Amino acid sequence: MKNKNRQRPNKRSGRPSGTVAIVGLGYVGLPLACLASEKGWRVFGIARDPKKIAQINAGVSPVPEAALNRWLKRVNVIATDDFSVVRKASIIVVAVPTPVDEFYNPDLTPIRNACEGIRPFLRRGQTVILESTVNPGVCEEVIKPILEKSRFRVGRNIFLAHCPERIDPGNRRWTVRNIPRVLGATDQSGLSRALAFYQGIIEAPIKPMRSIKEAEAVKIFENSFRDVNIAFVNEMAKSFSRLGIDTLDVIAGAKTKPFAFLAHYPAAGIGGHCIPVDPYYLIERAKRSGFEHEFLKLARQINNSMPAYTVDLLIHVLNEQKIALNAVRVGILGLAYKANVADTRESPSFKVISILKEYGSKFEIFDPRVPLQSTVRTLTELLKKCRALILMTDHEEFRHLDPRRLKQRGIVAIIDGKNALDKERFLRAGIAYRGIGR
Ligand SMILES: NC(=O)c1ccc[n+]([C@@H]2O[C@H](COP(=O)([O-])OP(=O)(O)OC[C@H]3O[C@@H](n4cnc5c(N)ncnc54)[C@H](O)[C@@H]3O)[C@@H](O)[C@H]2O)c1
Repeated sequence: MKNKNRQRPNKRSGRPSGTVAIVGLGYVGLPLACLASEKGWRVFGIARDPKKIAQINAGVSPVPEAALNRWLKRVNVIATDDFSVVRKASIIVVAVPTPVDEFYNPDLTPIRNACEGIRPFLRRGQTVILESTVNPGVCEEVIKPILEKSRFRVGRNIFLAHCPERIDPGNRRWTVRNIPRVLGATDQSGLSRALAFYQGIIEAPIKPMRSIKEAEAVKIFENSFRDVNIAFVNEMAKSFSRLGIDTLDVIAGAKTKPFAFLAHYPAAGIGGHCIPVDPYYLIERAKRSGFEHEFLKLARQINNSMPAYTVDLLIHVLNEQKIALNAVRVGILGLAYKANVADTRESPSFKVISILKEYGSKFEIFDPRVPLQSTVRTLTELLKKCRALILMTDHEEFRHLDPRRLKQRGIVAIIDGKNALDKERFLRAGIAYRGIGR
């Protein structure tokens, strides 16, 4: 019997192509959609928000990244909320969020909903690939049973694979195009089909894993590695600051060892959709299998404590000058969770703001990349109103703050939550400076 789902070589490029449906057009799904289209695939993107759908169809990226916006204009991604387009596709990619609830419990609702949306339109021979980050077990325990509510069986007449995305928003060197991937599937046939898809669009090595569970574990392992290392360095920062040691100098010293040391840096908190979220997926799943992740839980606890630690630093520095926190208006510099992007998901700035609110403290917020959530329009306006500053995001616009200008504007203290500023220059200008661990 002729298999309609075979990936056929594109006439011009010779690469496999066909139709791909991508469910979830955010930071992960949209670049993948652009890449697949560029490489000759007909791309349907499934989204829920009508505004987002209209934007994408007009060639405007709802993800605030200039390069992605330019890319979207050059390709052909058809956005829709109609899951029936799944029928036309040989490859169906799921790239929906994997958040935690207010108690840090994994919330698989978006994945369940996406798979329920796909299910009625499944056809024999299609391959469903999950790109979202999940704990080991989700593909086989959650996704497979939903897909099999159809008349198809995974591994027999439909296929299931997992290729966790590693995209780093704002990173120009490593993009969806060239970041190496790992890939797992429930069976060899699914693995070959998914491998052919990625080999046709990605210019990087793809490592096949022995199982789909191993592929799921790789991504959680990578992000937990980051979380634990950052927690370690945050703890060192708290300790060294008591001992009058500059943690950055110590890291610079330790980095001279050419092997077995990997530098991580302390900060006022961790944000983004991955590192502060993903470890909870493993913590919860391992617990259900009778294992308590003490180390991962402690890392989360330490990293979650950093915004409060940052506000405590400010209170301390102001107290040294006999100024109460409530006697000054505090300027928050940055809402984005990292430099030079507009992404505010899980940003520790919001935690700092809510602590200041709890203390009844007055504050202003300025993020040049997030104007709609800023309370002032310019840095100058913020400086006019505030006497103390907390730098939360090391945007280019903040890295060259002039301490003398700040002093003239009446700034008495600055907490450098990203250790991005020149400590000595601030101290010379007569501004009380504290970094995280310095
Ligand atoms: N952002 C990153 O840097 C990054 C990097 C690597 C991996 N990931 C992982 O990739 C996954 C997606 O993350 P993201 O950053 O792209 O999220 P996102 O919020 O930017 O995009 C996901 C999109 O999916 C949509 N969506 C949710 N449920 C849907 C449904 N049922 N049908 C159709 N659309 C639906 C949302 O509206 C949203 O637009 C997560 O698991 C995340 O952990 C993210």
